Amino acid sequence: MKAFPETFLWGGAIAANQVEGAWREGGKGISTSDVQPHGVMSEAVEREPGDFGIKDVAIDFYHRYPEDIALFAEMGFGCLRVSIAWARIFPQGDEQTPNEEGLAYYDRLFDELAKHNITPMVTLSHYEMPWELVKKYGGWGSRELITFFERYARSVFTRYKNKVKLWLTFNEINMSLHAPLTGVGLEGKPGKKEIYQAIHHQLVASALVVKACHEIIPDARIGNMLLGGLMYPLTCKPEDMLETLQENRSWLFFGDVQCRGEYPGYMLRYFRDNGIELDITESDREALKSTVDFISFSYYMSGCVTADEEVNAKARGNILSMVPNPHLASSEWGWQIDPIGLRILLNELWDRYQKPLFIVENGLGAKDKLEADGTVHDDYRISYLNDHLVQVGEAIEDGVAVLGYTCWGPIDLVSASKAELSKRYGFIYVDRDDEGNGTLARTRKKSFHWYKEVIATNGGSL
Ligand code: BG6
Repeated sequence: MKAFPETFLWGGAIAANQVEGAWREGGKGISTSDVQPHGVMSEAVEREPGDFGIKDVAIDFYHRYPEDIALFAEMGFGCLRVSIAWARIFPQGDEQTPNEEGLAYYDRLFDELAKHNITPMVTLSHYEMPWELVKKYGGWGSRELITFFERYARSVFTRYKNKVKLWLTFNEINMSLHAPLTGVGLEGKPGKKEIYQAIHHQLVASALVVKACHEIIPDARIGNMLLGGLMYPLTCKPEDMLETLQENRSWLFFGDVQCRGEYPGYMLRYFRDNGIELDITESDREALKSTVDFISFSYYMSGCVTADEEVNAKARGNILSMVPNPHLASSEWGWQIDPIGLRILLNELWDRYQKPLFIVENGLGAKDKLEADGTVHDDYRISYLNDHLVQVGEAIEDGVAVLGYTCWGPIDLVSASKAELSKRYGFIYVDRDDEGNGTLARTRKKSFHWYKEVIATNGGSL
C-alpha cells in the first residue's frame, strides 16, 4: 500500500487505571475506577481491606514503565497515548494544591518517553475521577466540579508544559449516557435530566481547559475524544434512516458542541420534547466557544439501527444498544468487525467538522495462547489491524486529514467493560490472569513484529 504522510504518528494507547496498578501508592487517592472492580458498567462497591481487585496491580506499569517503553520503542512508536490518574494529582479532588509525589511520577514517565523520542499524548480523564468528588459533591452533577477539574488541568499543563504538547480532555465523553458513574460520577439510576446536566458541566469544563491549555502551552494542541459509535440503518426504510440519524446524533452531539462551540438545534429540540430543562448560564455559553484543535476517537465496531420495536426488543449489544449487522462477523466478545466502517467514519467526521482527526483507539480483544515456543501466534489480531489500517490509508487518499493512529492496548492490560485480563489487545503478552496469578513477565507476540514492520515502512507493508 502507498506510504502514509511523513508526519503520521504511529503508536499505542493505554489508560492509567487499566495499566498502572499501585492503587494506594505515591499518595494517590481512591478513584471511581478503584470502586468499580467489575468494570465501567458496574455500580460502586465499598472496598474492604484485603478485597481483591485486578486493577489494584493491573500490569504494574507504575513500576515497570521503563521496560514497557523500551519495548514500544523497539516497535518504533512515535507516540504513546497515556492518561493521568486525576486522584494521583488531587487525591480527594477538591484540594487547593497538587500532590507532589503524583506530579513527580508523571515527570519520570514523560522523561522516559523523551529518552526514546516518543511523543506523549495525554488524556486528562480516562474513565476515572477522585471518588471523594462523587461522595461529597455528587460527581459532575455539581457545578463545583468545573472548578476542581480546571484546577487539576491547569496544574498539569503548568507542570508539563515543556514535555507534553498533545492533550485530550475526557475519554469517550459520550459514554456518560451509558455509564453515568464512570463518565460523570453519578450513582444509582440517574434520570435523563440529571445526566445531561452533569454532561453540560463536563462540556463547559472541557472548553475551559481547552482555553487554559492554549494560554499555558501556546504550541500545544488539544482535542476531544469520542467513542465513534457509527450506526447504519438496518434497512433503507425512511423510518430506519431517520432513527439512524437520531442515534448517530446522540453521540455526534458531543462533537458538535466541542467543535462548533454551541448546542445544536436538534439537541435543543430533544430537550424540549423530553421536558429537560438545563441550567445553562451566559458564562457557560461563552465558555463553550473555546473549541478543540482536533478530534480524536475510538473505533472498534459498527452497529445497526431500526425503528422496528420488535427487532429492537430482541437486539443484543455489548456497550451500546444496537442491532447486529447480518453481513459482519463478530469478535469473541460479540463486537462486530467492520474495517470499512473506519473509512466511512473518518470521512463523515472530516466532512462534518473539517478538523484533523486522530484515531486514538482501535484493536481486537481476544483470548491469546502462549505457546511452548514462548510466543503467541495472533494472526487474527494482525488481520483485524491490517484491514483497519488499509481503510485508514483509503481515507487519507479520500483527502481526510489524519494525524495518527494509536492502537488500543499495545501491551495486554485490564479491559474496561468487565475488568478482565483474559481479553487481550496487546502486541506484548503479560503473564497475569483474571485471578491475579502470573509473573507479570512480558513476551513479544507475532503481531509485535508485524506492527514494527508497518511502522518502519510507514504503512507501506500493509
Ligand atoms: C474504550 C475505552 O471504550 O474501549 C478503553 O476507552 C477500553 O478504556 C476499550 O479498554 C476497549 O474496551 P474493553 O472493554 O474491551 O477494554
